[in-house]
Amino acid sequence: MKRPLTMIAAALISLSGLTQVQATDSREIIWLSAAERSALMEEMRKFLSTSQQILVATLVEDMARVESVARPMGVKLMKETPQSLTEKLPTGFTQLGPQAHLGFEDIADEASGLGDQKVILQRLAELQTSCVACHAVYQIKVREEK
Ligand code: HEC
Repeated sequence: MKRPLTMIAAALISLSGLTQVQATDSREIIWLSAAERSALMEEMRKFLSTSQQILVATLVEDMARVESVARPMGVKLMKETPQSLTEKLPTGFTQLGPQAHLGFEDIADEASGLGDQKVILQRLAELQTSCVACHAVYQIKVREEK
């Protein structure tokens, strides 16, 4: 009987924690249109799901799969970023962004080359420092331009 209550309490605590974080969010704001934000967040979700798929494939040493999921997130996707969006992004962002894309490209290269499991994991860990670094500094808000 205690369990559901404990879960509700935990949920409430984490919710209030969340509100606190948002109320004191001092990360630099990047203003984008709703469409730009939505496209960028879609890319972010792909980053996360690809990272997860790389982990799973690496654990079973399926290097063909590692390459096939990592490659599309690399230089190819980086080149697809529209100029109109890049112009709105601060320098720190436009440095960390490519770093993430190149990290995926490096993983794809290792997978199609020697395919060393440990090297892939090291590169993924390194790549994730760019995710963490960027999230620590920036937040996105929507403002439509007239
Ligand atoms: C160049 C900066 C940058 C890099 C690099 C970056 N992100 Fe993000 N990401 C952001 C920003 C900014 C947001 C929005 C945060 C906010 O507004 O609170 C975000 C949001 C997200 C979200 C939420 C998406 C949604 O639908 O709301 C996910 C998931 C995410 N990032 C995953 C990742 C992963 C995984 C990586 C690394 C492989 C990564 N990101 C690398 C800047 C970055």
